[in-house]
Amino acid sequence: MNPKIKEEALKMDRLLESIKIQAIDYLNNIASRPTSAETNFKIETSLSQQGLGASETLTEFNKRFEPVMVASSGPRFWGLAVGGTTPAAIMGDWLATIYDQISYSVGGHGDNSALIELETIELFMDLLNLPKNYWGGFVTGATMSNFTSLAVARQWVGKKLSQDIAKNGITEKITVLASAPHSSIFKSLSLIGLGSNNITIIKTEQGNRESIDLVALESEIQNLKGQPFILISSAGTVNTVDFDDLETIAKLKDKYDFWWHIDAAFGGFAACSDQYKHLLNGWENADSITVDCHKWLNVPYESAVFFIKEEHKLLQVESFQNSNAPYLGNPNEELNFMNLLPENSRRLKALPSWFSLKAYGKEGYKEIVENNIRIAHQLGEFIASNPYLKLLAPVRLNTVCFSLANENDTQSFLYLLNNTRQVYMTPTVYKGEKGIRAAIVNWRTSDKDVEMVMNLMQNIFRENPDLCQVIDL
Ligand SMILES: Cc1ncc(COP(=O)(O)O)c(C=O)c1O
Repeated sequence: MNPKIKEEALKMDRLLESIKIQAIDYLNNIASRPTSAETNFKIETSLSQQGLGASETLTEFNKRFEPVMVASSGPRFWGLAVGGTTPAAIMGDWLATIYDQISYSVGGHGDNSALIELETIELFMDLLNLPKNYWGGFVTGATMSNFTSLAVARQWVGKKLSQDIAKNGITEKITVLASAPHSSIFKSLSLIGLGSNNITIIKTEQGNRESIDLVALESEIQNLKGQPFILISSAGTVNTVDFDDLETIAKLKDKYDFWWHIDAAFGGFAACSDQYKHLLNGWENADSITVDCHKWLNVPYESAVFFIKEEHKLLQVESFQNSNAPYLGNPNEELNFMNLLPENSRRLKALPSWFSLKAYGKEGYKEIVENNIRIAHQLGEFIASNPYLKLLAPVRLNTVCFSLANENDTQSFLYLLNNTRQVYMTPTVYKGEKGIRAAIVNWRTSDKDVEMVMNLMQNIFRENPDLCQVIDL
């Protein structure tokens, strides 16, 4: 046995204690930690012969990398749509590392962690008020959830055309319809061989909307003359959190034969609030649904689920079957995640979500979701009332999309704002206009934070009169 590892295994309590102290210090000070950092470290290329030992390695991490760790799970990281990490989720995440389970099947590889995953999926479906005729699994993010769902959709269309695409590849064009899909949909179509260009974009509804125009959609469907197709709906577009009219689309399922996928990466959490759950009316008729956990569930990054109707399980196995490897178990086993989703190697990814769902329950998530929406509205009202800023769309849920009154100044303003390192927002383009997007999905974000950001914005105008332009409409 390597003497260094042997020695350190005997002092695990001290090593873990040092990490615990550091973690607590980070979490207690997360609100004042910078939201972005300069990239100023040099990448090393040679590895030491003997190794530094764990304590020395921590010292080196703290010297070189710790100063550039940003508060991406802090209350004013409003870029992307990355939530925070709840205390319970952190506990689950740490334990997932310690127990280091092999989350494939039930008992098949000696462990039962797949059952914990199934239970977590059940709890999550209950939170989102989804019916029990779905099942699901954990993947790394909404991109992989969209990928997984669309791979099964592809197999479904193939079957309709008497083809086994998973086995034999694609021989015919498959029609995919969507209106304002997230970029990960294009990536997924590229990965599953349908092609990222092979998507028919249906126009959006009029009046500053990103939702699908239902008349244009139905007319496009009629042009297909009964050909099976895939429809991808948005339950929360990335810029303005707009929702397709899911209730009406659900009724189209009675008239036409299509696979219906809903990307509800963060919009799915509207289900937690009595005030907003109507936005999802009808979603229980979808064949597959994407929901991200590292967004509004507030678990550490790299976690999302897919929900797929149980009736499609065989298509799912056909799409992801990991065969010809006797050492990996029976490929026909009833539950073996290896045969049901992209990754073969999987840690107990469900555990942080299980901890957080159990710890905070339906009330906890309702409070997080409604609080974030309230704060997004406060920011939206401030922007709407500021003469130098322009709200690009009404605040529909938890995202605020805006620009400078003079669009050409938008990027300079965002640069100055992000450079305060006290808040982080992302650039975007909305209906051809350069904009800024703030996505609020963190359990820690409070009134104090939005006040602070409004002050930062006002200071930028005070210090940069050239940005203070009022455009008369
Ligand atoms: C609507 C939507 N779909 C998919 C994604 C991709 O998510 P992930 O980064 O978890 O892969 C996002 C991310 O912001 C999103 O907002």
